[in-house]
Amino acid sequence: MRQKIVAGNWKMNTSFQEAQALTSELMGMAGDEVRGDVKIIIFPPFPYLYSLKAQLGTNARIEVGAQNCSEHAAGAYTGEVSAGMLKSMGIQNVIIGHSERRQYFSETGPLLAQKIDGALANGLKPIYCCGEPLEEREAATHEELVKTQIEEGLFHLNAEAMKKIVIAYEPVWAIGTGKTATTDQAQEMHLVIRKHLASKFGNETAALVPILYGGSVKADNARELFACADVDGGLVGGASLKSRDFIEIIKSA
Ligand code: 13P
Repeated sequence: MRQKIVAGNWKMNTSFQEAQALTSELMGMAGDEVRGDVKIIIFPPFPYLYSLKAQLGTNARIEVGAQNCSEHAAGAYTGEVSAGMLKSMGIQNVIIGHSERRQYFSETGPLLAQKIDGALANGLKPIYCCGEPLEEREAATHEELVKTQIEEGLFHLNAEAMKKIVIAYEPVWAIGTGKTATTDQAQEMHLVIRKHLASKFGNETAALVPILYGGSVKADNARELFACADVDGGLVGGASLKSRDFIEIIKSA
């Protein structure tokens, strides 16, 4: 059985006070309402990580992750945060290769492969993002593009390391647009990704890797998306900033 995961990517949103309030609401609701077998992860902005981790205390229901990490281990890289720093604060997860980082910060496949290695070396669980822009979907080159993204970021790993990775398929045209992929589109791409993993790492490994869907997941479309055979949960942006909406999405998993 693959792990079901619902993760909230807060992006560059919330004041510190809002982040504390959101965390406290989620702690209460998750404890009362959510089944124990769905993993919940929140990805707040860097400066809040340590405090929110402390706020969660021994609450094992909600894990914390970072939205990015440096490809370097340490040194003169002003403004950067390393995987080792995250590990030293007890952070368990890190998003790598989000389309916004690829687009606005020019992150490329080889760089992302380095970040994956740094995260794994520090015992962090990477959520590796892939997904095509609208032009690629319209040109019907989206499958090839996503396969290339998977190859660039992950195909240097061995099967044991691959089992530690979570993938998020996030079509760029669905992010923050309110335009969600249909269940057919999501399932089709998740299967393409899983088959591509199988071609490299074997069926057993491919069957174990959780593949999350991201892109305008909302309380009213999560259930049908998460019901797809190869969709193992979601990476949620906007709707993860409202505790009630996020909890309803988690309950759909
Ligand atoms: P939205 O849910 O706001 O579309 O964002 C998706 C996303 O980018 C999660 O990483």
